[in-house]
Amino acid sequence: MKVLIATDKPFAAEAVKGIRDVIEKVGFELALLEKYTEKKQLLDAITDADAAIIRSDIFDKEVLQAGKNLKIVVRAGAGYDNIDLEAATAHNICVMNTPGQNANAVAELVFGLAVYAVRNFYNGTSGTELLGKKLGIHAYGNVGRNVARIAKGFGMQVFAFDPFLSKEQIEKDGIKAVESVDELYDTCQYISLHIPATAETKNSINRNLLNKMPQNALLINTARKEVIDEAGLLQLMSERKDFKYVTDIMPSNHAELLEKFAGRYFSTPKKMGAQTAEANTNAGIAAANQIVDFIKNGNERFRVNKK
Ligand code: 3PG
Repeated sequence: MKVLIATDKPFAAEAVKGIRDVIEKVGFELALLEKYTEKKQLLDAITDADAAIIRSDIFDKEVLQAGKNLKIVVRAGAGYDNIDLEAATAHNICVMNTPGQNANAVAELVFGLAVYAVRNFYNGTSGTELLGKKLGIHAYGNVGRNVARIAKGFGMQVFAFDPFLSKEQIEKDGIKAVESVDELYDTCQYISLHIPATAETKNSINRNLLNKMPQNALLINTARKEVIDEAGLLQLMSERKDFKYVTDIMPSNHAELLEKFAGRYFSTPKKMGAQTAEANTNAGIAAANQIVDFIKNGNERFRVNKK
């Protein structure tokens, strides 16, 4: 059995070692494709792989079809919008993610970005503090829960909205559940996005919604760029000089935002949320174990595509 790690953005070395240990212990073989520059390299590497561990790497129809022996793809992370699930099902390939394994890393970055923004990007001028401010967590999954935990340490007032959870499920963590997306944005000066990129959420964070946020608003995006209506955000930031945007996923209109809103906008050059040794190790080893358990025992827990 050949397991391919295909990561354009490589894991920390210790994570690769941990994955190798799991895979080789059961007599499987490990192949490594990192920092590839062309799709052809991925297409070649996948040809004889039985399983693949990936991150945000694009697994479209062509890649899935090229994997003639491919039985399982595990996205070492949360979001699987980079994988064509229908094509995977059509080719009898099981797709899984590793929910929660990198959640703390992403949540910590939310506060790295938030402090950076409210201290005026460390430009020497007087900023503001997080203490006592209202933070809205948009979608209360694994990352959202970690954000809430850390926000309480900062002494923030924490609110959350999640259409898939009851008020009780959210409020048991000692935070406030709101009834609607509009109420979250109406209430909170700071919003942290944790929604996946789906047909429903794409472009859903638009000008009208963002304009509900109180004065001196800060939007923090460690989720996906596709959920933002980029033209709407640009318009809103032109209209509202009090609005700041910090993101871990570079927008398509990055250059324009940077030029127009210097001092109110920041993007990491490459998505950094899950880029810690701990998150890489947790997600990578979970992925390796899920592959072994699937191949040996048929365990499909964490499967995300239809059969
Ligand atoms: C995720 O969905 O798990 C995060 O966005 C991390 O993505 P990455 O593994 O590409 O850094």
